[in-house]
Amino acid sequence: MNKAKRAAVIAGNWKMNKTPKAAAALIEEMKPLVADADCKVVLCVPAIDIPAAVAAAKGSNIEIGAENVHFKASGAYTGEIAADMLVEAGVKYVVIGHSERRQYFAETDQTVNLRTLAALNAGLTAIVCVGETLEQRELGYTETLLKYQTKMALTNVTAEQLKNVIIAYEPVWAIGTGVTATADQADEGNGFVRAAIAEVYGQEVAETVTVQYGGSMNAANAEELLSKVNVDGGLIGGASLKAQDFSVIVKAAAQ
Ligand code: 13P
Repeated sequence: MNKAKRAAVIAGNWKMNKTPKAAAALIEEMKPLVADADCKVVLCVPAIDIPAAVAAAKGSNIEIGAENVHFKASGAYTGEIAADMLVEAGVKYVVIGHSERRQYFAETDQTVNLRTLAALNAGLTAIVCVGETLEQRELGYTETLLKYQTKMALTNVTAEQLKNVIIAYEPVWAIGTGVTATADQADEGNGFVRAAIAEVYGQEVAETVTVQYGGSMNAANAEELLSKVNVDGGLIGGASLKAQDFSVIVKAAAQ
């Protein structure tokens, strides 16, 4: 297993936080702190913040992502945003299938797959989230569930398109709870994701796919989590809203 075969990506997921003005201010604060990053740096922001975020990040090493994308190209889908709209706005990445979307907005493995295909077809990099609930973990279903979610999300995704896919393992019980998975649990979960990819695309391809860990990753625990062979980066919620904390995590991703 060779970690150097894949890109380290630290991505913030701001969720429903920051107005456009506040987003621009936070990015201005972050820019000098992450300028010498040895990994890719991405901030996934609320849709309304995208123009301000893209403008603020211009000329820096920060790339902007969205937090969701619709699976149709256009049409009567009130409130939704299509992939080419994101592309035209300067977005490069998009979070898909976050557990909050699955839990509160009826996202299913099938719609996660459709959104992933729409993102990839538009040239976006998809950050696809998978993760088990505490109940599923306690019942012993973690491996089965992670493999199932990963394979479902990647249905009809070609090996070529897979180059633009990042999978984020986010145990639901660790999101926003302050309860972080241990580094070994994160490594194991990410390993299950990679094994699922290997079952479909082969081991060689699986070793090139970036698999992030997300769930209460912070300035204090990032280095240990990111030291694990299967942890290629992080998807960070709360700590990505603080410039200093986020920059510590970015530095911890130096390979
Ligand atoms: P926290 O880092 O706030 O736990 O959120 C993780 C997450 O959901 C990132 O997508």
